[in-house]
Amino acid sequence: MSGRRGLTRFARLPIRARLTTAFIAVMAIVLAIAGVVLYTQFSHDLDADIDSSLDAQAIDVAALVAGRGSDAVHVSGQRLAQVYASNGRILATTDAAAGIRLLTVEQARAAAHGDVRIKRRTVASSNLRVRAVPARRGDDEAVAVAQSLEQRDDELARLRTRLGIAGPLALLLASLAGYELAGAALRPVDRMRGRAAQITESQLSDRLPVPQTRDEIEALGRTLNDLLDRVEAAVARERRLVSDASHELRTPLTTLRAEVDLALRGERDPDELRAALESAAEEAERMTRLADDLLVLARADQGRLPLHAQPVRTHVLLEDAATRAGAAARERGREIMVDGDGGAASVLADRDRAAQALDNLVTNALRYGDGRVELSAHADGDLVELHVSDEGRGFSDDIVGHAFERFGRGSEARAGGSGSGLGLSIVDAVARAHGGRAGVRNRPGGGADAWIGLPRP
Ligand SMILES: Nc1ncnc2c1ncn2[C@@H]1O[C@H](COP(=O)(O)OP(=O)(O)OP(=O)(O)O)[C@@H](O)[C@H]1O
Ligand SMILES: [Mg+2]
Repeated sequence: MSGRRGLTRFARLPIRARLTTAFIAVMAIVLAIAGVVLYTQFSHDLDADIDSSLDAQAIDVAALVAGRGSDAVHVSGQRLAQVYASNGRILATTDAAAGIRLLTVEQARAAAHGDVRIKRRTVASSNLRVRAVPARRGDDEAVAVAQSLEQRDDELARLRTRLGIAGPLALLLASLAGYELAGAALRPVDRMRGRAAQITESQLSDRLPVPQTRDEIEALGRTLNDLLDRVEAAVARERRLVSDASHELRTPLTTLRAEVDLALRGERDPDELRAALESAAEEAERMTRLADDLLVLARADQGRLPLHAQPVRTHVLLEDAATRAGAAARERGREIMVDGDGGAASVLADRDRAAQALDNLVTNALRYGDGRVELSAHADGDLVELHVSDEGRGFSDDIVGHAFERFGRGSEARAGGSGSGLGLSIVDAVARAHGGRAGVRNRPGGGADAWIGLPRP
């Protein structure tokens, strides 16, 4: 339980502290293991040296004693050597070993019959390593030689001290390096964070400083900058929309205002008043349509365009659209016809929205096109496209790539002040809301062709 709490607290530390702590922990373990291995190896080597020299000395002394008797230990050149009788009594001893026993009585007895190694024997406050072998004289004597362990112990103590100083020092240096490294790695993140904190809605053109490190942080910086690009573009689009919308509303409002002012000025006869009111109603109607269109687009943007999709025969949709536009067409001396084989298919669509989209297409064909307006349906994969084509000049170059943009109008439309440039955006929004798509093109033989593709039932 407390372990988990410790972990949670650890996870709350800043990344730099966490990295450094983990680094120190790993480093400490590595250094400790290295120290232990070094120390063990060193002490093993020292012991092996002492043992092999003791082995050689024991054999030498045994040979000497075998040839020349017990007193030969004095000339053996050994500092610590003794000869024991089989009962454990000392027969001869070097001067340095006088007064001490290198072997106990039991060890001496054992040594008369076989090798005896004593790793550490403390006699008269000095530590010795002892090696004893039979004297090979036939009368059960034993020879013992010994070396002081003082130098060995000193060397190991010195090594311990050095490791005790060098280890923590290495750990400290490695930790400082680790702390610096973690800081250096995180500095670009800090710089990006600092810049991001300064980016406001009114200053969206700023970008995060991206380090050229070809790593995850560079990738993160690039991704965030791409995100800022998209946000900036979206905000710019919104702002343009708002300013376009207010601009579009100003024109009918100004006209309305002028009509009302004119009507209020002086004495007006009823006919003049009626004409002024009719014109005012027309402007009000235009504003209402604009507001409705904007509402449809706003809802579509939020994915909240209410759709009551049901299977509808395309023939019915096209015939109805032709009928609704009949009067307007006759007024302009134009002909509207529905292509014969358009009736074969059905689409899954909201009737009212599909009708609204078709009306926008037909209105455009009547307003900007010329000649006969033809309505037809064509299957295209999962969609059925409802086409409205005319025999006019087609889409002008400045609009053909931007026809679906909000308030996007061709120069002739802008000059004529006829439309607000939302018609095709709504066609596009309706298509998308149905999971379809809309398109425009200029027909090779001349004239415009615009369509909305709706899904099959
Ligand atoms: N059949 C067509 N022939 C030639 N140009 C067209 C045709 N239909 C549309 N356009 C061009 O595309 C532009 C955008 O059309 P859209 O329907 O979106 O806007 P609008 O008709 O100007 O305004 P609104 O439809 O909102 O009243 C038009 O301004 C016009 O320049
Ligand atoms: Mg239009």
